[in-house]
Amino acid sequence: MEFVSGFSRKTKQEKRQWLIENVQNWELDFDLFNAQDEGTQKLLDEFSENTIANFPLPFGLAPNFMINGKTYTVPMVCEESSVVAAASKSAKFWKSRGGFQAEILGTDKLGHVHFLYSGDEAKLRALFEQNKSSWLSELEPLQVNMKKRGGGVRSLELVSYTHKLQDYYCLELKADTCDAMGANFINTLLEKLASLLESSVENIEILMSILSNYTTDSMVRAQVSCRVDELDNVYEGMSGAEFASKFSRAVEVARVNPLRAVTHNKGIMNGIDAVILATGNDFRAIEACAHAYASREGEYQSLTKASVKGDVFIFELTIPMALGTVGGLTTLHPLAKASLKLLGSPSAQELMMITACTGLAQNFGAVKSLITSGIQKGHMKMHLLNILKSLGASSQEEMHCKKYFADKVISVTNVREYLNHLRSLH
Ligand code: MEV
Repeated sequence: MEFVSGFSRKTKQEKRQWLIENVQNWELDFDLFNAQDEGTQKLLDEFSENTIANFPLPFGLAPNFMINGKTYTVPMVCEESSVVAAASKSAKFWKSRGGFQAEILGTDKLGHVHFLYSGDEAKLRALFEQNKSSWLSELEPLQVNMKKRGGGVRSLELVSYTHKLQDYYCLELKADTCDAMGANFINTLLEKLASLLESSVENIEILMSILSNYTTDSMVRAQVSCRVDELDNVYEGMSGAEFASKFSRAVEVARVNPLRAVTHNKGIMNGIDAVILATGNDFRAIEACAHAYASREGEYQSLTKASVKGDVFIFELTIPMALGTVGGLTTLHPLAKASLKLLGSPSAQELMMITACTGLAQNFGAVKSLITSGIQKGHMKMHLLNILKSLGASSQEEMHCKKYFADKVISVTNVREYLNHLRSLH
């Protein structure tokens, strides 16, 4: 690619033209992915910068999620085949075994003014205590609306990290941001605090003011449980006790072996990210937080736990997440708005519970397959369809191939050969 200057000032059409001129044999017609009305297209274009097209992903539904006695149809945006099917299957499975139970363990978000201070720590602490209440009152005008909704600043502390980095301290602010994810609210408060700190204390260098995505005070737990005998014959001839024991051990493996834990948690995030995307939340924040939490004991481990207590099988997920149901894309993106409507306009807390249950359902589906039929059986059906699509198979050919490959090994070569054979018959 050639160097380009002033790219952002080009119109969308000019940007597309630049691409066409700079990539050999460019074939894709971006207009195929346009929204049908100008208003929606403008909205999508303006979410980001240098936009030249929309990038559609499948928007699917996983029905029959019973959570705390209420039934939800969960919207999921995911490009990976089998994810929505597995979530739906698990939802139905648990619906007939009491459904999912979920609870909120906290909703406070946090952020920091990171600064360097080269003076005496005792003096800094004294100054902090002296100024704390006046700084908090200076924040009042910025939290009028949040306070009306029942939120606002919960605490402000001075934390020393000088044992890790010379002269390094933080002001740590915790706040309840109600139904907002809270990034803007917290960052605004932090920047104000930083200026107050700078003007009240000498020998200080403000490094940065930013929320933390490690939200361990904003936490949710999702759980399913049933009598072990309710798991009888979940898989051809397997007793409930065998299933529950094998399942719990498979989850234990992900607790003790990080190499398995990453894949195990990836399966959980298959469900979580799909809901996060569908509801216009920030999946990067959720991912970063989840994996940091999975490493909290010094070694990366499973986010779910499974156990058998007496004759009861219990499977649960505890995960920190900061979600919003107001503000940002949640109210701007037409499909995110529709997702929230579909979920009955949930509060942020309700959405946290729905999302965690979807993650738990996804993990249940994956581990269940892994310890019984193996993952390839379900995956391969979808894989076959993708291979057939890439080979331009007609619906007639698709039908023949599905039948033929029902009990055979699916690979691109095998499918191509069989398609050629079918085509040679005509
Ligand atoms: C694939 O996207 C997810 C799984 O690998 C998760 C797991 O192994 O638990 C099936």
